[in-house]
Amino acid sequence: MSQIVVNNVQKVFRTAERDVVALKDINLEVQAGEFVCLLGPSGCGKSTLLNAVAGFSLPSSGAITVDGRRIAAPGPDRGMVFQEYALFPWMTVAQNIAFGLEVQGKAKGEVAAKIDQLLEMLHLKDFRDRFPKDLSGGMRQRVAIARVLALDSPIMLMDEPFGALDALTRRNLQDELLRIWAEFGKTVLFVTHSIEESIYLADRIVVMTYRPGTIKRDHVVDMPRPRDPASAEFNELKRELGRLVMEEQQRHAADEMKLAAVD
Ligand SMILES: Nc1ncnc2c1ncn2[C@@H]1O[C@H](COP(=O)(O)OP(=O)(O)O)[C@@H](O)[C@H]1O
Ligand SMILES: [Mg+2]
Repeated sequence: MSQIVVNNVQKVFRTAERDVVALKDINLEVQAGEFVCLLGPSGCGKSTLLNAVAGFSLPSSGAITVDGRRIAAPGPDRGMVFQEYALFPWMTVAQNIAFGLEVQGKAKGEVAAKIDQLLEMLHLKDFRDRFPKDLSGGMRQRVAIARVLALDSPIMLMDEPFGALDALTRRNLQDELLRIWAEFGKTVLFVTHSIEESIYLADRIVVMTYRPGTIKRDHVVDMPRPRDPASAEFNELKRELGRLVMEEQQRHAADEMKLAAVD
């Protein structure tokens, strides 16, 4: 049985001016331990789909199940990492990571051991008593990942988590994520608009269309890791996916021109 099953999902946002069909006829299955990227330009419903799996915003119709249970709300089996650093600014790194465990009422000793392990694993030991404002973007995202790992969620949902980072920091965190994913056997559903990022990371790349958001291509990436972005195979796939994404990007741009003309 697939771990995540998205069955005929539609999502319509009703606004004063019009209805936006953000998702239409979405059918998707993700196996336990799989690393799947949702790829597409801005506005094609990637976040909407991720938020539906997270349980933050439910579909207008259709259903999403995790391990056979229908999703009706957020749950500890699904941890979310956002692009914006969703850390508590008044808490130190260690306190941020500990927060979820304390909410769960875990014993002090258990929490302390877990924090030490995660600080070590994400190379945050020297930063344990710092506050988020004193960290670089890359370090903050390490803390955000540690916070999700602390809860032992089998599923990690990530919405452009590295989108605001410079190229080197980004590659560094991609490698860390792959290491964690392999070590812990997590299922990862990862949203990005970067074709290269999706090829570097994913077992499968799900390309989405712009309005309505549908699945345009479900591509299995059959390359051993670590993948070399300079290799011929990598670049061949990059060109192919680039064509698919560019078509949607153009539809997005055309739509924006139309809207601008109406205003
Ligand atoms: N709360 C909302 N109200 C109205 N429209 C929304 C809302 N959230 C998203 N949308 C629209 O739904 C579409 C998909 O948005 P989103 O899922 O954020 O796309 P992506 O993450 O791929 O950029 C967009 O056209 C967006 O404008
Ligand atoms: Mg988004």
